[in-house]
Amino acid sequence: MRSIIRLYEDFTMVPTSKAIANLAICAERAPPNGCIVECGVWRGGMSAAMADTLPGRAHYLFDSFEGLPPATENDGQAALDYQRTKTSPAYFDNCRAERSFAEQAIRMSAAGKFELIQGWFDKTLPGLKLPEPIAILRLDGDWYESTVECLNSLYPQVMSGGNNHPGRLLHVGWLFPRGARLPLNA
Ligand SMILES: C[S@@+](CC[C@H](N)C(=O)[O-])C[C@H]1O[C@@H](n2cnc3c(N)ncnc32)[C@H](O)[C@@H]1O
Repeated sequence: MRSIIRLYEDFTMVPTSKAIANLAICAERAPPNGCIVECGVWRGGMSAAMADTLPGRAHYLFDSFEGLPPATENDGQAALDYQRTKTSPAYFDNCRAERSFAEQAIRMSAAGKFELIQGWFDKTLPGLKLPEPIAILRLDGDWYESTVECLNSLYPQVMSGGNNHPGRLLHVGWLFPRGARLPLNA
């Protein structure tokens, strides 16, 4: 798994230990079919790494490619400080990325097919029905509202455990829920 991550190190900001933990869940616990969805892809490295771990699947990559929306009080002080401290090495230009990076990463991977859905989650997700159930839903949009938007639209499409192969929910943001003030179902 480390070798997969290495291939995409210029395309992901996810720390290696966390990326490996996510890929291990994909390798060991993903249902044998179903699509893979990542919300908050940045340069697409984690989607590509998941594709190499579970080759041949359909991938849906959601992002504004305009960076993070403004943090709110719901995200907690750490999130507000992050967006104020533009000189921090962790700032990454507020997570802005060229869409072409994500395209390049996912094309390099073993994805069976892919779709990049560009736009703010509250515009692209409501009412969206994916053509197949979700095996892996990885949420990396960081903020509370971004995450809740994704959960509302996509969590109902994650494969239920009815066939003994429940879909898996990965990550759910690096500041969320650690920094968030509200519970997930608020
Ligand atoms: C932490 S980065 C994602 C990191 C990425 N998964 C990787 O492998 O490095 C967060 C991403 O979420 C996106 N994002 C956050 N909130 C969003 C929203 N409401 N709508 C669309 N994109 C959003 C940002 O544009 C950014 O690319």
